[in-house]
Amino acid sequence: MHRLRLTFAVASTAVLLGGQLTFVGSVPAGAAPPAAKPSPPQAYPADSLRALAARVGLRVGTAVNMDQLGTNEKYTQITAQQFSSVTAENVMKWSEVEPTRGNYTWEKADQLVAFAKKNKQLVRGHTLLWHNQLPTWLSSDGYTTTLSNDEVKAVLKKHIFDQARHFKGDIWQWDVVNEAFDDNGQPRQTIWYKAWGGTGYIADAFRWAHQADPKALLFYNDYNLEFTGVKSDAVYALVRSLKAQRVPIHGLGFQGHLSTQYGYPDLTNNLERFAALGLKVALTEVDVRTLTKADAVNEPVDALAPYAQESYWSRTLKACLAIRACISFTPWGFGDAYSWVPGVFADPQEGAALIYDEQLNPKGQYDVLQQDLALAAGAPRR
Ligand code: G3I
Repeated sequence: MHRLRLTFAVASTAVLLGGQLTFVGSVPAGAAPPAAKPSPPQAYPADSLRALAARVGLRVGTAVNMDQLGTNEKYTQITAQQFSSVTAENVMKWSEVEPTRGNYTWEKADQLVAFAKKNKQLVRGHTLLWHNQLPTWLSSDGYTTTLSNDEVKAVLKKHIFDQARHFKGDIWQWDVVNEAFDDNGQPRQTIWYKAWGGTGYIADAFRWAHQADPKALLFYNDYNLEFTGVKSDAVYALVRSLKAQRVPIHGLGFQGHLSTQYGYPDLTNNLERFAALGLKVALTEVDVRTLTKADAVNEPVDALAPYAQESYWSRTLKACLAIRACISFTPWGFGDAYSWVPGVFADPQEGAALIYDEQLNPKGQYDVLQQDLALAAGAPRR
C-alpha cells in the first residue's frame, strides 16, 4: 500500500521527551532551513491527523488501551502525536472503577486524564451507564441482579454522581448512556429498565450527570445508528422526547463499528437528522473490519479488501467533516494488534479493522484519513 506524500509536507524532527512528543523545526519541503530564527517548538507534527483536523476545528481521537500507554513506547508516541482527544477503552467502565462495592479504583483512569492534559488532548468519558462490564456485586450479565429495584436506583444515582464529580472539569464529552436499545429498536430489558419499569432511567441519568458536572457535554452513544432503520428510529424518537422534556442531553454518539460485509450506511442522513434536533454529533468508536484469515486474524482474505476499507473510512470521516455539528471523529483504537474485533468476530473471522498494522505502522486506511483532512480546508469550522 502506497504511503501518501503530502505536497505541503514539512521536514521535521520529532523527539520523544519524557512521554511527550515535541516537534522541532518546521521547514517547507525543498526550502533551506532558516538560519537564525528557528520556529517555536510545537507539540506534534504538522501532518499529523490532529494538526490537520485542527484547521477545521475537528477533534480526532482514539480509544486508549491502558495496558499499552506508558509501557509501549511506539504506542504511547502515536497516541500523543496523532490524536487530539482520547477515550478510555475500558478503564472508566463501572467494573473497572468500583470492582468491590464502595471501593473506587480510579488510578488508571486518572493516568489517562493526566496524559491527556500533558499532551493537550480532550477526554471523552466512556461510560456512566451500560449493561456490560458491570461489577459482579451488581450484576454478572446486566439483565439480572440480586439487588432490589430501590437499591438499583440508589446505586446508579451514587455511581453517576461519584464518577462525574471525580472527573469534574476534566471530561469534554460523557457517554452518559450507552447502548440502551437492541437491534430491533426495543429498549433492552436491563436491570435499569426493570428497576424503573421503563426507560425513565435515561432521563434521570442525564439529569444527575448534568448536576454533577454542568460543563460536560452529555451524549447518548450506540452502534448501528449509522443505518436508517428501526433502531436508529427508536433512538431518534427517544432523543426527541428527551429534548422536548428539556433533559440535558447535548450529543449523539455514532459508534461506527462497520464491516465491509455490509453495504455502506446512509450515515450522512442520520447525522443530519439528529443534528437537526439541536444536538452535537460525533463518530465515537469507528473501526472497519473485513473477512480475514483464521490463522492470521488481521490479514484480509481478499487482497482488494483494504481498498473497500479505505473507502469506508474516507466516507465516514467526510460525512463528519461535512456537518458543522460533528465535533469529533474517534477510531476505536489505532493498532490492529490491540483491536477488540478479532476476538469477538471469530466465526467467520474478521479483523484488520484499524488504521495501523500489528507493528504499529500506518496503513492505507491512515493515509486516506490524512489526505481527507489535508483537503478539508473548505469544510465548515466547528
Ligand atoms: O481486565 C480483564 C482481565 O483482568 C482478565 O484477565 C481478562 C481475561 O479475559 O479480561 C479482562 O477484561 C477484558 C476487558 O476488555 C479489558 O481488556 C474483557 O474480558 C473483555 O471482554 C473486554 O472487552 C472490551 C469490550 O468492550 C467489553 O464489552 C473491549 O476491550 C472494548 O473494546 C469494548 O468496547 C466496546 C465499547 O465499550 C462500547 N461499544 C462497543 C465496543 C466494542 O465491543
